[in-house]
Amino acid sequence: MIVCHCQNITDHDIHAAVDWMRAADPTTIVTPGKVYHALGKAADCGGCMPLFLSTMRKNPNLEVPMQLRGLRRDRTQDKRHEGRR
Ligand code: FES
Repeated sequence: MIVCHCQNITDHDIHAAVDWMRAADPTTIVTPGKVYHALGKAADCGGCMPLFLSTMRKNPNLEVPMQLRGLRRDRTQDKRHEGRR
């Protein structure tokens, strides 16, 4: 199924790119921009982004690596205690 009509990217291309990135670097965070880059393309109109993201989310290799989870929560906890009265 074609997901991105501007760049002629299929759901198979997206899954292959996500799988390849995860195999190459288990700690990487996979983004749509990285998928386009891995396929040697760049987004044009962006109209496909909801379907593009939905297709990426169906891939089990998209998960954020365990060691990178919870980083945002730690940062927000620090901001609550800025030392102000
Ligand atoms: S349809 Fe994907 S960038 Fe236009």
